[in-house]
Amino acid sequence: MQACPLRAVVTGASSGIGRQIAIGLARQHGSYGSAADEAVAAKFVIHFRKNLRGAEETAAAVESLGATPRLVQADICQPQQRRRLLDESWDFLGPPTTWVNNAGADVLTGEFQHETFGEKLRRLIETDVLATIDLSRQVIRCWTDDIPSGQTPPPSMTFIGWDQAPLGMEGDAGQMFGPVKAAVMAFANSVAQDVGPNIRVNTVAPGWIKTAWGETTDAYWDGRARRQSLMNRWGTPEDVARAVCYVADPDNTFCSGQTIQVNGGWSRTHPR
Ligand SMILES: NC(=O)c1ccc[n+]([C@@H]2O[C@H](COP(=O)([O-])OP(=O)(O)OC[C@H]3O[C@@H](n4cnc5c(N)ncnc54)[C@H](OP(=O)(O)O)[C@@H]3O)[C@@H](O)[C@H]2O)c1
Repeated sequence: MQACPLRAVVTGASSGIGRQIAIGLARQHGSYGSAADEAVAAKFVIHFRKNLRGAEETAAAVESLGATPRLVQADICQPQQRRRLLDESWDFLGPPTTWVNNAGADVLTGEFQHETFGEKLRRLIETDVLATIDLSRQVIRCWTDDIPSGQTPPPSMTFIGWDQAPLGMEGDAGQMFGPVKAAVMAFANSVAQDVGPNIRVNTVAPGWIKTAWGETTDAYWDGRARRQSLMNRWGTPEDVARAVCYVADPDNTFCSGQTIQVNGGWSRTHPR
């Protein structure tokens, strides 16, 4: 049996990739206990911003795997709500073993899809970069205060990047998501240097993953997403969750400062 039960926070867990990360972690760690056994049951903070119904569905799925979930609503762009997310997480879990920074602005399909390039870029920078960096620095400060130096296993923090961010992609999407996710990935690599060996920090960088945008996109992008993967298909949220489960696994104590791409292997033969 694992030394300490999982205590996880997954931000943006009301849909898509975040939901499958929570479910994947619950599946991986559910066998260590059950909700009936408080002491060993895995516990989750299922964080969301607006999509309460989606968050409730995630929580139900996690609970069915033997874990104990709690919903926490917070707009991470609001400093006070960010702080409340932190406080409520600590109140429910104690110091988490596992923190996954998955929340990101949806500027492709949601309420912001018709905004200008500049407005979308600002939202992405505010949510994915500024809010995420501030939140993760606060989490690290709390861990540093609460966890004895050298604790084994160390807690882990995982960020979500984008496989094409380091080299770039043409078009407005590339010019928005490229600098935003490159900043997230660079921050993760930098903070990993500061906090080892007491905290592990890794990045999972998904490629073309079939969430809301992938479900509704046109034939060109559908074909392009398939061609650009050696596996000749879209990635799924479950594919991303598998990589997050790997880097976040408390037993994976030698894994820090890593970036794992989840794109089925980039096809250099069929770039577009
Ligand atoms: N799908 C892809 O192909 C792909 C590729 C590379 C990277 N990613 C990244 O993977 C992550 C998840 O993407 P996804 O496709 O699963 O998107 P999604 O289904 O739109 O999920 C985004 C999540 O973030 C939350 N969120 C958005 N703005 C927020 C805010 N201001 N405060 C708090 N929470 C907020 C949403 O909450 P509510 O809905 O409850 O408001 C939702 O739970 C994002 O960081 C995204 O950039 C996705």
